[in-house]
Amino acid sequence: MQFEVFTLLPEVFPAYLDTSIIKRARERGLIQVNIHNIREYTHDKHHTTDDTPYGGGGGMVMKPEPVFEAIESVLGQETLPTSPEAKANVPVILLTPQGRVFNQRIAKELSQHKKIALLCGRYEGIDERIRENIITDEISIGDYVLTGGELPALILIDAVSRLLPEVLGDPTGAEDDSHAMGLLEYPHYTRPPEFRGWKVPEVLLSGDHGKIDKWRRQQALTRTFKKRPDMLEKAELTKEDKKFLDGLKNEER
Ligand code: ADE
Repeated sequence: MQFEVFTLLPEVFPAYLDTSIIKRARERGLIQVNIHNIREYTHDKHHTTDDTPYGGGGGMVMKPEPVFEAIESVLGQETLPTSPEAKANVPVILLTPQGRVFNQRIAKELSQHKKIALLCGRYEGIDERIRENIITDEISIGDYVLTGGELPALILIDAVSRLLPEVLGDPTGAEDDSHAMGLLEYPHYTRPPEFRGWKVPEVLLSGDHGKIDKWRRQQALTRTFKKRPDMLEKAELTKEDKKFLDGLKNEER
């Protein structure tokens, strides 16, 4: 999968992309991340990428010309709004606090694409003509405001990449993740079996995989019930899960 990132701060990206799982995924050719400096698509002496807002007020606004030129020259005709495949082919996503709020379902949805483009907003905002004419989707990573879309772009790249086959070494991959099955993940333990008097739950040492699976499922349900009850409304629950949850609700009363 290919990510084309458009930014005014390209120097932000390498440290993270050259680390750990994302680094390995890039080296193995499972993902490709191309960082494009929007400033390189300016033609004036000062390489101007922003200007004061029409109508007055504070702050600066990202100019349309370099952004259009950058995206169009990297993606070619694929993204032009006149192309019927534009939207389906390569989503051009603006990272902005005004976007739909990112979650595991959106990560999964984006992981189905061969290529996506990410535009990192900066300054007070971007010229509205960019949003209207070349952006196909807007994503926020949460209801708070950052100084720019660079960290959100990295977050999105990370969350999407680890869903691709083979990116995680573990063959079960991201299947058991928190949120993957609509529940928070069960607790994990490793050696030693006892640390400062705190013991690993007996069942995990039992070697009985039927029992272990059941325990993990019940732990996941209990955690979700306590920490994120909102998630239970959308989770896929079996009859047995529902019975177990009814038990938890009764305990609470
Ligand atoms: N840019 C600034 N804040 C942001 C947020 N919360 N999500 C995505 N992009 C942003």
